[in-house]
Amino acid sequence: MLISSRFLCLLFCAILVVLLLWRLPISSSQAFCRSDSPLPVQSLSDIDWSRFAYVQYATNTAYLCNSVMMFERLHQLQSRPDRVLMYPSHLDPERDSIEGALLRKMQAQYRVRLVPIDVQSRSSSDVTWAESYTKLLAFNQTQYARVLSLDSDGTILQAMDELFLLPPAPVAMPRAYWLGFEHRLLTSAVMVIQPSASEFGDLWARIHGAGPSDYDMEILNDLYKDRAMVLPHRPYILLTGEFRAPRHTNYLGGAPHTRWNPDLVLSEAKFLHFSDWPVSKPWLKTPDPVLDQEQPACTNDTQTGRPDCRARELWLGFYRDFAQRRQRLCGLDVH
Ligand SMILES: *[C@@H]1O[C@H](CO)[C@@H](O)[C@H](O)[C@H]1NC(C)=O
Ligand SMILES: *[C@@H]1O[C@H](CO)[C@@H](O)[C@H](O)[C@H]1NC(C)=O
Repeated sequence: MLISSRFLCLLFCAILVVLLLWRLPISSSQAFCRSDSPLPVQSLSDIDWSRFAYVQYATNTAYLCNSVMMFERLHQLQSRPDRVLMYPSHLDPERDSIEGALLRKMQAQYRVRLVPIDVQSRSSSDVTWAESYTKLLAFNQTQYARVLSLDSDGTILQAMDELFLLPPAPVAMPRAYWLGFEHRLLTSAVMVIQPSASEFGDLWARIHGAGPSDYDMEILNDLYKDRAMVLPHRPYILLTGEFRAPRHTNYLGGAPHTRWNPDLVLSEAKFLHFSDWPVSKPWLKTPDPVLDQEQPACTNDTQTGRPDCRARELWLGFYRDFAQRRQRLCGLDVH
């Protein structure tokens, strides 16, 4: 009697183990096969995308056009969330001016919601501070459950709608990989934000008490260093300057088998950020001697020995493409 009950117990346990081992890999492989997205999304059609928005801010004509270009790209990519532009309340969308025309274009063609804001300034010359401050107003867009703030001096290469479905976090940002990982700095060029009156209150107090060299990046790193979700910088931010860099270990992440392949890197990236000092931002003309000096070098292919100028071609293409879209969408030249 004793033996048979022990036997039954063992048999039961064995069946349980077999069942578990058998079920687990099947259910998890099914979860990954069901969609292209690695996120555990049950049904994309059930999502109420109006709770989410891509937000941009613009404080002058150049940035208004940058935002037009960002929203046009989202429109083209059939991105689903709302689109919001925070713009200085002294600009009038009804007025017959280039700014008015750009605001109306966003509203009419790319279903952008225009949110007027008060641009504050610390001293009349401190443009960077005003920009920093304005960017942080994204935390105050509490009509949305989540917003994605992207710096507008960049090009969206692929929609990033999946970022709105991340697990809850007050903010999610990638690391500023180009600064190295020693200080583990987060970049505010890409931020997935859960707008909140109390978080915004903290930020508001900090930005008004900020020291002369404290801008949005310092404040956010200070406030969120232990609470932010870290987004992988691949594929969420790629600097144009990476194509000029002599080494790529920070971007590639140090995996031993990864080689720098500019075409491959570009095909995976979702957001390309213009950052090429001393080359100007793409809406400003860089003097030709500076461009000749600073453009990516051609390398010799290690296998064939032939010159490889792919990085240079791509990089020059980023600036050419920006200039063409700026002309086509805003009627503005690079000058
Ligand atoms: C933040 O949002 C609230 C509610 O919409 C609004 O009343 C307030 O003026 C906003 N604060 C700033 C600084 O824009
Ligand atoms: C590439 O090869 C050419 C000719 O062999 C040589 O002159 C040039 O310096 C090489 N360039 C680099 C970057 O190694």
